[in-house]
Amino acid sequence: MAKILIIHGPNLNLLGIREPELYGRTTLEGINEKLRKMAADHQVDIEIMQSNHEGEIVDKIGQSYRKADAIVINPGAYTHTSIAIRDAVAAVGIPTIEVHLSNIYAREEFRHHSFIAPVCAGQISGFGADSYLLGLRAAIDLATRCFKEAS
Ligand code: DQA
Repeated sequence: MAKILIIHGPNLNLLGIREPELYGRTTLEGINEKLRKMAADHQVDIEIMQSNHEGEIVDKIGQSYRKADAIVINPGAYTHTSIAIRDAVAAVGIPTIEVHLSNIYAREEFRHHSFIAPVCAGQISGFGADSYLLGLRAAIDLATRCFKEAS
């Protein structure tokens, strides 16, 4: 069965109370429930992690080498700062989808640049909690393709 890793970056544990006008009122657990349901419907295995620590995210991506078939990541503020996360994604060569709840291009200029997006298969930004579901949908296609090719 194809395996997809979902990574929620910093402050996403605060969803529900965090600036709801920007990020909506759905909690992280609410998003995770929807992701688990979609994964079950498509018969893929998902692992979900949240971390506020850049190094932990880097470690997790590295540990996924040859274990995950695709990654969906919301790197949060690390999107705009982290060359280490970018290098980890590039190193493992796992197809990765970057997702954002808000439309980062409609916000402050410092959010317009992503260090991660250039090493990703694609980016989904601006659809609230649905960004994750769209991201998982894309990841399932990519992971299933890899999985079929490998077997
Ligand atoms: C975010 C956008 C980032 O700019 C911000 O730092 C976040 C959340 C989003 O999902 O819209 O933490 O990644």
